[in-house]
Amino acid sequence: MKIPPVKGTRDFYPSEMTRRNWIIDGWKKVSVCNGFEEYDGPIFEYLKMYQIKSGDEIVEQLFSLQDRGGRDLAIRPEITPTLARMVNQQVNALPRPIKWFSVPRLCRAERPQKGRLREFFQWNFDIIGIDSPEADAEIIFTSLDYLRTTGLTSADIKAKISSRKLLAAVLTALGIAAEQFDTLYALLDKRTKLPPETFAELLAEQIPDSQQASRISAFMALESVEQIESVVPADEAVQNAITELKAVFAALKLMGVSDYCVFDPGIVRGLAYYTGVVFEIHDVVGQLRAICGGGRYDNLLRDFGGPAIPATGMGMGDCVLEILLHEKGLLDSQVPRRYLEYFVAFAVPTHTRTMYEIAAQIRSRGHSANFSYKLGGLSKQLKEAASQKAGKCVIIGQEYVDKQELVIKDMATGEQVLVDLGRFLSELEPD
Ligand code: HAM
Repeated sequence: MKIPPVKGTRDFYPSEMTRRNWIIDGWKKVSVCNGFEEYDGPIFEYLKMYQIKSGDEIVEQLFSLQDRGGRDLAIRPEITPTLARMVNQQVNALPRPIKWFSVPRLCRAERPQKGRLREFFQWNFDIIGIDSPEADAEIIFTSLDYLRTTGLTSADIKAKISSRKLLAAVLTALGIAAEQFDTLYALLDKRTKLPPETFAELLAEQIPDSQQASRISAFMALESVEQIESVVPADEAVQNAITELKAVFAALKLMGVSDYCVFDPGIVRGLAYYTGVVFEIHDVVGQLRAICGGGRYDNLLRDFGGPAIPATGMGMGDCVLEILLHEKGLLDSQVPRRYLEYFVAFAVPTHTRTMYEIAAQIRSRGHSANFSYKLGGLSKQLKEAASQKAGKCVIIGQEYVDKQELVIKDMATGEQVLVDLGRFLSELEPD
């Protein structure tokens, strides 16, 4: 009986694994350059951790289980709640700001589709303990800093930035009650994913006053911060949110990425815990889902029983990113191909044991080496060396029997040189 892989999961054969490692290595390198330290948590947590503040959408997508003691657990769909729990646990001992990153494997029981799977990797980095627009800008900058290294330019991607604080102030100014915000945010977040008529119908259900509803839609479609006052009178709360957003854009300019950044009030974010600046990075063509998303969540640590500490961060999955890089021709050109340094072959059948010895000596000096198990003729071994993409072939021939000399064949040029075994090995020694 053949058992298929589970829907929405991926098998990583060596070539896919190489791509995955290349992406994750890039994430880690940029994290370290931007001053973040790595952390990780368990792959499952108590179910209630995600029910507290992540929002209905993510709760519906949980893979949950009960352990033998009857405790309700869930596989992590995101790492932000774990981060909040971990920070709360040691809150007095941790020097601030806390700048941490992680690359967890996550599971969400979503309907699998292009760029959305049930199991994926997600780069996260967060700044905890700083309540300033510059920290939000640093989060957006770090996301862009990585995407730049892959070769994506401001013609390919845009960071769409808005603010939950602004949205809340605008809704309040329009006379919408704060109790309605959470359900309204969930709908507004889906605006671009729904057909316009469906969105209008759902909005009318929540906001029966057609004038209020049309002003909300008008706000969502604005293209610049300056236009806000054309839709809503800018009271103090609106003004404060505008000032904060402007400070984020000013910092992004100083950081040199303003050509990637636009104001987009349509960005609301699906998760319930965001409280301030929010952003998503999208491909310009707009056919894919967000490459990444994040924002400020100043109440989450407090909601998890800790002190009120401000926080901001982001998550970037590997799926949409990989599709986009592939479509732009930026993946295969950059992911390193398999490279084996040496393939040890024998031309004298009595010297198969020497082949194992020499391969072991090459490996013990920190270089990669393989040999053939088939014990066939030299030409077959050379073919195997080529199929393994070996850089050089070390051939044990008659010269070795006579004078302990090896033939080193460059597999790219075909050039051959004779080298004494002792010298060959000493040249492999690390400096
Ligand atoms: P999120 O918007 O749920 O945010 O996910 C962030 C990113 O993870 C998405 O933009 C996408 O790249 C990737 N992603 C999410 N779901 C899937 C899926 N089913 N398949 C493939 N990729 C997916 C969060 O998770 C927040 N915790 C991020 C955050 C950290 N905010 C503050 N700190």
